[in-house]
Amino acid sequence: MNLVDPIARPNAPALMSEAFAHCIFPLTNMAELAQDGPTIFAEGSGATLSDVNGNLYLDMMGSISRANSLGYGNEEIARAMYEQARRAHYVGTGSALSEPMIKLAAKVASLAPGQLAKMMFVSGGSEAVETALKIAKQYQQSSGRKPRAYKTISRWNAYHGATMGALSVTDWLGVREVFDPRVPGHSFVANPSRYRNPYGIEDDEAYADLCAKHLERQIQFEGPDLVAAFIGEPIMQANGVQIPPKSYWQKVREICTKYGVMMIVDEVICGFGRAGYWFVSEYFGIEPDIMTMAKAITAGYAPMGAVITRSEIADAIPLFRHVHTFSGHAVACAAANAVIAIKEREGLILRARENGEYFLAALKDAVGNHPIVGDVRGLGHWHAVDFTADKKTRAPFTDDTVRAVVRRMRELGVLAGAMGTAMEMAPPLIVTRSELDRAVAVTAQAVEETARSRGLG
Ligand SMILES: Cc1ncc(COP(=O)(O)O)c(C=O)c1O
Repeated sequence: MNLVDPIARPNAPALMSEAFAHCIFPLTNMAELAQDGPTIFAEGSGATLSDVNGNLYLDMMGSISRANSLGYGNEEIARAMYEQARRAHYVGTGSALSEPMIKLAAKVASLAPGQLAKMMFVSGGSEAVETALKIAKQYQQSSGRKPRAYKTISRWNAYHGATMGALSVTDWLGVREVFDPRVPGHSFVANPSRYRNPYGIEDDEAYADLCAKHLERQIQFEGPDLVAAFIGEPIMQANGVQIPPKSYWQKVREICTKYGVMMIVDEVICGFGRAGYWFVSEYFGIEPDIMTMAKAITAGYAPMGAVITRSEIADAIPLFRHVHTFSGHAVACAAANAVIAIKEREGLILRARENGEYFLAALKDAVGNHPIVGDVRGLGHWHAVDFTADKKTRAPFTDDTVRAVVRRMRELGVLAGAMGTAMEMAPPLIVTRSELDRAVAVTAQAVEETARSRGLG
């Protein structure tokens, strides 16, 4: 396949020098960047992406961020955005609404768990988290249930975004290190994790149970009347696709209800099919009080995030003191409506679940017993291979072995991600079985070659 016409191909060296002169590279190690350079992508089709040098990649990371759930070059979404841009691209914020926004709110409410019914749209995941935290705090005050509640609780290793409120409930990626002090009143509790945890408890279920108990203890410690909300990713990204036992989230639900703490489930990654459900809260059998979403809501075709809550919560706030200029941007809403229609029509959510099981089995088969692989796990279209330097102690690699595997996969034409101790893959829902087979083969080759080159078995 030749995606980019060689004659029309951009001038790669000129672009590269302009990139170095004028771009800031978020969360990128500048020493590594100087060595490898950024990748300048040019064009894509389906799950395949090409760079400006004409190299082709199978994108198994959903455009790095896992947002891309329908692949590249989707005409139907592009056309919906174009038509909306011609009609009324943007009509304002607050109570200035557009038809695609209202239609989108009604549609998402019909897909969301339980009684979640009222939405606010924003421009991305971090803004969605900010909005959710503010709804929780303002609801506790306005409703008179907990007029003094300002405290929030999240978990070690959580990632909820980069803006100051979202950052304050975040622990992963070292993003808050230089920005302390955070928003006052926040504390962290233990997070359930697969394969290894800080206390060496071998049974993941037992550890998850302890984590739920830690949350209850922390609410008591902080003072239940002062705690407005708990926020958590239903499946954490830290160290690769951390799927807790269902019982963990059910216990968290019970604890939050018991103490009148708003349970915010951050579905920014999981929502809209990534984990094989419209919202993975359904898989866990829970109904959040407030739920955030972003990324795959538009499949990455336009920046968008959103928050949904129960009517009773939204209606208790007479004047929500929060606004974003691009709330409910009409073109983004048109993109989201098209994305949801395609996923529904093509049965892509169920297909992700089925293909995910197929992919997980194949990955386990290919690398599950390799000496440097500790665990292979996943749900829907989100998978991780967790590495270990010692199968007995489950010790993670402390050098760049995981990054070396990912680098080798990229050389072999497959884009994956290094996520702490694990390698992660999150392909678009339209990926074919033969593309999944190729990703498995490349994973096996990269794991084997990396291990051999480092004398690791
Ligand atoms: C669970 C979760 N919440 C929030 C965010 C922040 O979203 P954004 O980068 O769109 O601001 C992310 C981003 O990865 C995320 O994974």
